[in-house]
Formats: sequence, C-alpha cells, structure tokens
Amino acid sequence: MDNTRLNHIVSKVDDMPVLPGRIHKIIEITEDPDSTIDDLEKEILKDQSLTSKILRLANSAYYGYPRKINTVSQATILLGFQTIKSMALASTVSKMMAGELKGYALEKNDLWTQSQTCAIISRYIAKKIKITNPETAYIAGLLRDIGKTILNHYVEKEYNTIVNRVEFSKVSFLEAEEEILGFNHAQIGEKIAEKWNFPKDLVEAIGLHHTPEESTIDPKLVSIVHIADAITMIMGIGIGADGLKYNFSPFALDTLNFTPSDVEQLISLSHDLIIDKDSFDLI
Ligand SMILES: [Fe+2]
Repeated sequence: MDNTRLNHIVSKVDDMPVLPGRIHKIIEITEDPDSTIDDLEKEILKDQSLTSKILRLANSAYYGYPRKINTVSQATILLGFQTIKSMALASTVSKMMAGELKGYALEKNDLWTQSQTCAIISRYIAKKIKITNPETAYIAGLLRDIGKTILNHYVEKEYNTIVNRVEFSKVSFLEAEEEILGFNHAQIGEKIAEKWNFPKDLVEAIGLHHTPEESTIDPKLVSIVHIADAITMIMGIGIGADGLKYNFSPFALDTLNFTPSDVEQLISLSHDLIIDKDSFDLI
C-alpha cells in the first residue's frame, strides 16, 4: 500500500458531506428531556420530504393504528422521539448509501436495503435483551457499512487482488481490504461517525462491527450489530462480494448469551421482521 493512496482515502472522509444542521437539531431535540412535541414538530415541518415520510410511517401497517394520522404531532406521539431521530437520520444517509458500489459487487440500492435490514435486526435484538437503547442499535446497524461508500472506488481498482487474497490466503474480505488498501471499511465508517460527532458508543459499534472482541466501550452494542450484520449476510440481501467470509464471533455470542439455537431462531424471525416494506421506503 502506498502513502499517497492512504492520504487520499483519508481526504475522502474529509470530503464526506456533513450532516445537515436540521438533522443535528432534530437529534438534539430528541435527546433533550426538556424538549416538547411542539419543538420537534416545528423542526420536522421545515422539511417537507421528512414530514411526509414520518406521516407515511405512522400510517403504515407496521404501527397498525386504527385511525388516520394527519399531523406530525400525532405521529410523534405514536412513534416516539427516538424513532423520529432514527428516521431523520436514515432519510439523510439513504441518499449516500443508495448508489451502486461496483467494488463490492453491490447494485444500486443494495447497500441501502441491506443496511435497513441490519438496522431492523439490530433494533430487534436490543429490544429483546433490554439493555442497549434500541434506536442506538438501529442507527449503528444502519451505518455500519457506510465506509464502503468511500472505499468502493479503491476496492474496485484492486478487486482482483483482494478477491485472490480472500480465495487463496484464507483471509476475510475485511483483512484483505486492510492489507491492500491500508484501511478496512469499518475503520473508515468509524472516521465518518467521528466526523459527524456521534457518541462514542455508536462510533465504536460502527468501527468494530467485524471485530467485536476489541470493544472497550459497549461490547453489547458492538455484539448486537455484529450478529445482525452476520444474519443480514446469511439472509443474502444484497450481500455483494464480501458476504461469504463472515462468521459469528464467539465473543459476540457470549456477550449476548446467545446459543446457536437462539441464532437460528433469530434468522427465521428476521425474515418476518423485514417483510414490512414501509420501513424500507425512505428514498
Ligand atoms: Fe461490514
């Protein structure tokens, strides 16, 4: 690997768009215990597309509310502040993740669909074990592979070298990325999350989703995202080129007290979790 390329990759992280001020404002409001539904509604209404997405989600079959939800404040009461926060963030990053990633053999929308799946499974696991904030798990699951959007260009150029390394040297796609490019996509994702001023637990979960045993801040959150990621890959939703060499980390299974039959159950449940297409329809 040469230094010019390393510097170039890092500068690409600097080029990554900052999150719009409006999204930061919405995150701030949802995290402030003193803020009111009015505060949040006022901010959401400034964004027409977010407003309609929130109303659509509130009226979706997933929430099964018997009467029509017509206003953002009704939707906010129904969905809760944390879900609104996830939606606001998801509707912003969806545009960054929807493109085709040739380097990873991911077609248009593949990474986005896969990320939504991982996010939904992460949230489900967090709810089930009742320890980590489910919406933090959703966001971590959603953003875990965002580093691929930057590395894609470099992976594409070195695709054959990386795939040969994976095939003949028994290393994972992640290790081959790191050897050949100097960074893996999880490390780049961590840098983006830092740039966006995300809390440390979220930054760690994105950075260590393939190496949960290195976690020092929130091993449970990291393990949740790791397991959800592996399940997403097993389910074969837009897995692309690096989907075949990932396994469940024994550390993650231990941390969450999951037996192999728990995982099997989760896999079969996951198909039902993602059937609700309303939660995917954000672009
Ligand atoms: Fe990944």
